[in-house]
Amino acid sequence: MSLPEPLAADIRHAVASHAPGVGAGSDGNADPRGAVLEALRLVQHAEGWVSDYRVADIAALLGMTTAEIDNLATFYSHIFRRRVGKRLIMLCDGASCYLNGADALRDAVQARLGIGFGETTPDGEFTLLNVCCVGGCDRAPAAVTGRDRRLCGPLAPGDLDALLADAE
Ligand code: FES
Repeated sequence: MSLPEPLAADIRHAVASHAPGVGAGSDGNADPRGAVLEALRLVQHAEGWVSDYRVADIAALLGMTTAEIDNLATFYSHIFRRRVGKRLIMLCDGASCYLNGADALRDAVQARLGIGFGETTPDGEFTLLNVCCVGGCDRAPAAVTGRDRRLCGPLAPGDLDALLADAE
């Protein structure tokens, strides 16, 4: 399955917008590596995740290897290399959240959904992920939910219904 042309065009535009001199290669042209994250983001926004096919498509488009694209894709916790559920819950397990009760929140969420981190409920509704510091330490324990990545917190196990409802 090849990359739909509108998506390919958006990625080419992202490469072109990396002006020479900003991440330029030795030939003075824009370095396509500067556009990898944007390409991954565009694919994920369009399709919900980044499949092996799309890694190969991006690699071909940017003149890079699939290993280079995969290395970057797997480095960022907000890029999904596996299909995810309709609703996303990313619980922070950073130090501030841990010190403020993230483990109790994690236990409550996992018990309610019946899944662990990195898993999706059998009905495909929820995916639960753990991330390291979502930038809301003053709201610890915090989480990021939904495809538009809303920051929630401070959270307690009693906030579970609202958290799950907010995860769309
Ligand atoms: S440690 Fe959880 S938001 Fe920073």
